Order: sequence, then structure tokens, then C-alpha cells
Amino acid sequence: MTGDHESSAGDDADPGDDEIEIALIAAVAANGVVGADGSIPWHYSADLRHFKETTTGHPVILGRKTYENVVAGLGEPFPDRLSVVLTETLSDLPEGAVAVGSVEEALSVAREAAREMGVETIYVAGGSAVYEAFLPLAGRLVLTELHGEYEGDRYFPEVRWDDWRETSRETGEDFDFVEYRRVS
Ligand SMILES: NC(=O)c1ccc[n+]([C@@H]2O[C@H](COP(=O)([O-])OP(=O)(O)OC[C@H]3O[C@@H](n4cnc5c(N)ncnc54)[C@H](OP(=O)(O)O)[C@@H]3O)[C@@H](O)[C@H]2O)c1
Repeated sequence: MTGDHESSAGDDADPGDDEIEIALIAAVAANGVVGADGSIPWHYSADLRHFKETTTGHPVILGRKTYENVVAGLGEPFPDRLSVVLTETLSDLPEGAVAVGSVEEALSVAREAAREMGVETIYVAGGSAVYEAFLPLAGRLVLTELHGEYEGDRYFPEVRWDDWRETSRETGEDFDFVEYRRVS
């Protein structure tokens, strides 16, 4: 594990628990869909690049189904990140991934990894079940908001938008890159 790809402030820091933020990162259709039949029902390479650039060098928490979908596509866990995989069925994961059995264990492993990597953010990369579990703990949402609606069977959880403030928006033809910070 290294912080080679991490260029943000904090490389010299030794962030304590309080300083490590939890950010949900998701691509969400206009009707809230995030998944269909175990995968994502759209393909935007600019969004995949955005995900890679944002999460590289950080711990990434994800559910077992999303993890398996990633490995089916890439042939390995996300490179240059630690995948912290929530699962009660998998145990032996390849290098670059670790299995955890609860939200608390995921946080503990991811916080330790963030400290070792010298970064201040843990990303939560889905799917639905995992977004739902971590939304109350998150301080930031990194969303790709698709302009179109999609058919699907997995949704981003309900967000109480009064608790969040939009801090940036990059508008595109098919989707916007948007960030929100928790205000309460
Ligand atoms: N649009 C996006 O940005 C995005 C991002 C990620 C995923 N997705 C999509 O979302 C869908 C997958 O979401 P999903 O909700 O079906 O599955 P998921 O969250 O990826 O995985 C669910 C699995 O995670 C494990 N898990 C979840 N919570 C746990 C807990 N508290 N303790 C222990 N284990 C826990 C369980 O694994 P075990 O069964 O092994 O115990 C559970 O079956 C796919 O369609 C995927 O493509 C979309």
C-alpha cells in the first residue's frame, strides 16, 4: 500500500479518526437507479476516469456484489487502492482487497489504511446496500448525476437534501459531476 498516487494535502499528515472523512461516490440516474442485474446499466468512460482519479490512493469500501462485478470486469480488484469488501460469504481475497464482516470493521480497516496511505478520505463505492449503511456516516457525496432515467433494480438511498449543500458542479452533456457537503 502506498500513497504514490495521492497528491492532495495531507501527505505529511497523520490523520486521526476525527480527521478522516467518509465520502460516498456514485453515479446516479435521474430516477435514482444505480444498478441493474448486478451491473451498471450505462457506460461513460469519462465517469470511469473520474472514479479512478478520485479514488486512486485511497481505501474504497464496497459490497461483495459490487466487488465481484469489478473483478469480473477488470480481472482484479481496483488497482492502486485498498478494496475493503463487506461480506459474510467471502474470506480469502487477492492482494489489494480485504474482507470485512461489518460496517464497524470496514471503518476500522479503512481508517487504518487511510492513515498508512497518508490520506484523509475513505470512499464508499456501493452498491445500494452499502450506500444505505454509510450515508448517515458520510460528510461528502461525490455524485455523477445522469440527466437520463434508466431501468434498474438498485437505487441510491433517499437523501435528506436539507442536510447537504452543493459545493461544486461540472455540467456535461449527459451528466454532471457534483459534490455535496453535509451541513447538519
Ligand atoms: N452506479 C454506481 O455508481 C454503482 C456503484 C456500485 C455498485 N453499483 C451497482 O449496485 C448493484 C449492487 O448493489 P447491491 O446493493 O445489490 O449489492 P452490494 O452492496 O454491492 O453488495 C451486497 C453484499 O455486501 C455484503 N454486505 C452488505 N452490507 C453488509 C454488512 N453490513 N455486513 C456484512 N456484509 C454486508 C453482503 O455480502 P455477502 O452476501 O457476501 O454476505 C451483501 O450481499 C450492482 O448493480 C452494481 O453494479 C452501482
